[in-house]
Amino acid sequence: MIKTFAAATTAALLLVGMASPATADDDATVAYRQDVMSVAGAGMGALGCFMKGECGLDGKVLARSAKAIALVGELSQDAFKDPAADAMVETTAVPAIWENWDAFSGGLQAMTDAADELAVAAREADKAAMGPLMQKLGGTCKECHDNFRK
Ligand code: HEC
Repeated sequence: MIKTFAAATTAALLLVGMASPATADDDATVAYRQDVMSVAGAGMGALGCFMKGECGLDGKVLARSAKAIALVGELSQDAFKDPAADAMVETTAVPAIWENWDAFSGGLQAMTDAADELAVAAREADKAAMGPLMQKLGGTCKECHDNFRK
């Protein structure tokens, strides 16, 4: 999955690279980091659906959803590194990210750690154990979005 994602991104970068260079590259950079983040949204959606009793997902799927979120935290360390300041596409990222990179990067690490921790309980599809860990993970999303998104 990662390989396909990387290949698609590279292809996208090559394509837009043929248009006006600087802005086009920045647009692709923003689109890529948003794509990465949306994987975290999908993972939380699956886990939340299970917690509410609406989706009968098994432990293996739940653990992988949590692991996908941990991976988003890892990929984001690079995906967000470039401010892509000349991007024309819409972004909700604020300049404070690059003025406080260590705090932002630490937030991504907290997300990865919380998701890895959740994956262990998720493997057993243990709702009681998952509850507080879901809260903890959700708190890392909220804290960063509150501080670093418009
Ligand atoms: C350390 C910071 C940070 C953490 C932690 C974080 N996010 Fe984000 N997220 C961002 C930023 C910044 C953006 C805006 C990106 C942009 O528009 O360029 C974003 C955007 C998003 C988007 C919108 C993507 C799009 O298509 O525009 C979703 C969905 C999302 N995050 C989900 C999550 C979830 C779920 C978590 C927790 C499991 C999470 N994020 C944790 C910083 C963070």
